[in-house]
Amino acid sequence: MYIMESAPGPKTIINGQEVDYFCGCSYYSLHGHPELIRTAQEAVARYGIGSATSRSGYGNNPVLLRVEELASTFFGSEASLYFVSGYLGNSILLQGLKELYDIIFVDQESHYSVRDGILMADKPFVLFLHLDPQNLEEKLKEKLKPGQRPLVICDGVFPVSGEISPLPDYLEVLRNYENSFLCVDDAHAIGVLGEQGRGTFEYFGIKEEKAYFSGTLSKAIGGHGGIIPGRKDFIEKLKSNSNIPYASSATPTGAAAATARALEMFLEHPEMREKLRENVNYAREKLRNLGFEVAQSPVPIICLFSKEINLEQLQLYLWSKKIAVLYVPGGSYSSVPETGALRIAIFSDHTREQIDRLVDEINLFIGHREAK
Ligand SMILES: Cc1ncc(COP(=O)(O)O)c(C=O)c1O
Repeated sequence: MYIMESAPGPKTIINGQEVDYFCGCSYYSLHGHPELIRTAQEAVARYGIGSATSRSGYGNNPVLLRVEELASTFFGSEASLYFVSGYLGNSILLQGLKELYDIIFVDQESHYSVRDGILMADKPFVLFLHLDPQNLEEKLKEKLKPGQRPLVICDGVFPVSGEISPLPDYLEVLRNYENSFLCVDDAHAIGVLGEQGRGTFEYFGIKEEKAYFSGTLSKAIGGHGGIIPGRKDFIEKLKSNSNIPYASSATPTGAAAATARALEMFLEHPEMREKLRENVNYAREKLRNLGFEVAQSPVPIICLFSKEINLEQLQLYLWSKKIAVLYVPGGSYSSVPETGALRIAIFSDHTREQIDRLVDEINLFIGHREAK
């Protein structure tokens, strides 16, 4: 078992030793930032650990409202809904929109939070092939009864493969259906994709009225909790239709205060995103040069897969060199290729030396000594 004994960052202490850390989702290493920690401490001293009641009663506090205000600035939205975990975002969306759709079409590799959200929504659902708009179109034609209104849901970026869903193609398919919706779990795109880091909608320039996303502030942003931006009337609808924000405790106050500060820092420092993009391009190119199939993509999740290389052994070898990457066996998590995968996360503050050492060690393991 691995035990993390420091904040996650490019160097992280795990099981008593400092390693070069290429895992998780803290792409800007904000979770251990001294300013965030200080802000959290001050908020806990003032407001306590949490409100111990839901926000529908007395459970609101200035920190939670501040997160929503900053999130709205960040996403350029009229309003936002902040809740305890990004995992619940799909459930809130599907419950919130419940009277507007009849049947759900879901990418078969969607994250567990999407699948659980569907079960909680208690509506019929149909799987379509991973990342396949043509198959979506076929399933819509085959399964939708006259008068039924479809809702399509998928991940924006998949957590292990790092693939981006072809959202414009899905919307194109949905144009043939007047009352249709698209919902996206953008947990892995928030803070990463798009010019301002707003996620896949910004990345693709999507502005459709009936397209919604939920995200998390627990990954790239460096705080904790789930977020859904949107128009005021839409956010009010979510609050009145979903039991989750109505009947659960909000994000603990220290974590919420750190999240607000993280959002401020994110807005103040666009150069962080540039640094991440440079590192991602650099690492992707170097790994491609070793012969791996690595897409040209701004996503900081790099998924290595291979039929020839024992990826589990490669993880263990890298660990022996004090480099942490994650081996994920085939079928053990959503979006993992059948061969299993080595998930490598690139951070904005990984040094070139760290990335070079990672690639060199992989190269030594696979014996491609000629690669640069
Ligand atoms: C696609 C996706 N959605 C949602 C979540 C859950 O987000 P959170 O950790 O904020 O609950 C994850 C977690 O890894 C995820 O991969």
